[in-house]
Amino acid sequence: MSDYPFFFTWSAQHGAKPLELTGGEGAWFTTKGGGRWLDLGALSYQVNVGHGNRRIVDAIKRQADELCLSAPNAVFPAKVELAERLLKMAGPEFTKVFFTLGGAEANENALKIARLYTKRLKNIARTRSYHGASMCALSLTGDWRRAPVEPGIPGIVRAEDCYCDRCPFGKQVATCARECATHIGDLMKLEGPKQVAAVFLEPVPGANGVLVPPAEYWPIVRRACDEDGALLVADEVLTGFGRTGTPFGFQHWNVVPDMITIAKGLASGYATIGAVIVHDRIARHFEDHVLACGLTFYAHPTACAAALETMKVYDDEHMYANATKLGPVLLRELEAIRARLPVKAFARGLGLLAALEVEAPAAAWAKLGAELAQRKLSLHVDAKRGTCIFAPPLCITEQELVTGVRSFGEAASIAFGS
Ligand SMILES: Cc1ncc(COP(=O)(O)O)c(C=O)c1O
Repeated sequence: MSDYPFFFTWSAQHGAKPLELTGGEGAWFTTKGGGRWLDLGALSYQVNVGHGNRRIVDAIKRQADELCLSAPNAVFPAKVELAERLLKMAGPEFTKVFFTLGGAEANENALKIARLYTKRLKNIARTRSYHGASMCALSLTGDWRRAPVEPGIPGIVRAEDCYCDRCPFGKQVATCARECATHIGDLMKLEGPKQVAAVFLEPVPGANGVLVPPAEYWPIVRRACDEDGALLVADEVLTGFGRTGTPFGFQHWNVVPDMITIAKGLASGYATIGAVIVHDRIARHFEDHVLACGLTFYAHPTACAAALETMKVYDDEHMYANATKLGPVLLRELEAIRARLPVKAFARGLGLLAALEVEAPAAAWAKLGAELAQRKLSLHVDAKRGTCIFAPPLCITEQELVTGVRSFGEAASIAFGS
């Protein structure tokens, strides 16, 4: 048995490695015994504002003193103000917010809302996707985490990815006809007209390798949804709140989805909160139809206060602009590392979300893990998919980023050769 009285997630318990966190500041976190790590992965992609943010901690304390208990139908200022702010961020087409505790629940509820609104039973989601660990969200998920608990919910239709470096259609991005996008419309026709309730897409699939789509991708999918009457759900759990430089990822491509699911950066990890932001057209439907969705901890006061203050920190400290500014720097540094590697590798990214994909044997990946630990660099290393994913807090400075990625480059040279 492992030494701890609780389960570690996504791992066999024996040999699971605990992360003994003690605190942190900005782009750095500290661990028991005095370790200071550069956080190039924002822990679980959620610490967008950075570690040790006193403003958010104080906002939680103030809210706890003022009102700490709530009920799903309760109204209090932080809840109203937060919803208003989220709607403003999403755009004038959106008029209601449904709160959840995290990302999986946001996708669960988006799926339910899509089913209630359209009365259709099928949904489309992609192969290299992650939408959460609850049963419904995991059924939408395409990656390895779905398989151990299959069969999931019925009616999920799997679409190919916008994976330009290894195009599933065998095309080159310079000459392709955006088959990855047109294929989604084809799937709708194949399933029979007006069968699909919603298409769930991460604007940039994150944990599955930062698959940045071509510019036409989202507009083509939007058109296919409109033609069939299917809803388009942007899963912004990872990409939301400036991760790719824009407030939401879909805003790169001048499209409007029907629902937006959020969590992680919403309160930047300082509290557990997620949400579904809902288009006015759908919101109006529930004026006289029952919204059969609910949670005991719907919009908990301390979580609302944390999220509200997080939004203010993003604005006051221009963090989305920092992601836009530093995105090309991150990509340039990764490209330099890629060019030096003697093995097949790809670098890609958007804003402060980037991946280095490397073809290397398991032993090289184990070596990389050890080298990174020695350098106290924290990022998402996924030997299964051959990717290192970078998603630092948006407050990171250029110097911290460049120094950290170059240090990663030394580790990569040792692990993969140069
Ligand atoms: C795109 C995406 N959707 C949903 C989720 C699930 O969010 P949560 O872990 O808060 O349930 C994640 C988590 O990594 C995610 O990356």
